[in-house]
Amino acid sequence: MGGAIVAGNWKMHGTKQRALRFCQALGRADIRAEVEVVVFPPMAYLSLFAAATGGLAVELGAQDLHPLPEGPRTGDISGAMIAELGGRWALAGHSERRIHHGEDDALVAAKVGAALAAGLKPMLCVGETLEQRQANQAEAVVARQLRAVLDAVGVAWLSQGAIAYEPVWAIGAGVTAAPGQAEAMHGMIREWAASQGAQAVRVLYGGSVNQENAAELFSQPNINGGLVGGASLDAGSFLAIVAAAG
Ligand code: 13P
Repeated sequence: MGGAIVAGNWKMHGTKQRALRFCQALGRADIRAEVEVVVFPPMAYLSLFAAATGGLAVELGAQDLHPLPEGPRTGDISGAMIAELGGRWALAGHSERRIHHGEDDALVAAKVGAALAAGLKPMLCVGETLEQRQANQAEAVVARQLRAVLDAVGVAWLSQGAIAYEPVWAIGAGVTAAPGQAEAMHGMIREWAASQGAQAVRVLYGGSVNQENAAELFSQPNINGGLVGGASLDAGSFLAIVAAAG
């Protein structure tokens, strides 16, 4: 298994200016080799990020991709296009896409397959809603989301890619899962992946990670870093979170 990963998901935020300033700040930072740093900018800025982070210990990814390699799909982006623009990763299954774009487990699995076919490392997002947690279904929901993907595309990719556990109720909420609560789910995910034959899996936590709570979350044995939304938009706070994983 590799080291920790700290990834920033900019979602639909930013401007060219902000992106350039962020990359310049990354350039001045001393990123420790044991932490893999990944940024998922808006697709519109992927080329800009690629040009501005060339030579830095930072990998880039896309927040979404289409499952087809090409075709009449207006507005969509293929894995090959992402790779050509400098992306090395692709998010799949983010709850905002599941919720706002109606993505189901089968589509998410197809997207993971498309990422792999294009040579990209998938970062598969899973997580339950508040209602599901309150109904005691959190583990079952996450297990179902994982099973759908692993049944479709296998487990070999997990040694290169990653799983991000993002409880929907903690995203953009200013409330994280309690470290012990997240750790319990991460342990379940790791055990489940191991039972499928995947021994080396990085399981990241996402949901209101910030520079105050990152160190405690990352110190949990089954938490291998974070997928950071809002706090990744500012280079200072993102780099502080990266440092907390080192
Ligand atoms: P926040 O860190 O803003 O809660 O977002 C988490 C997330 O959804 C990252 O993918």
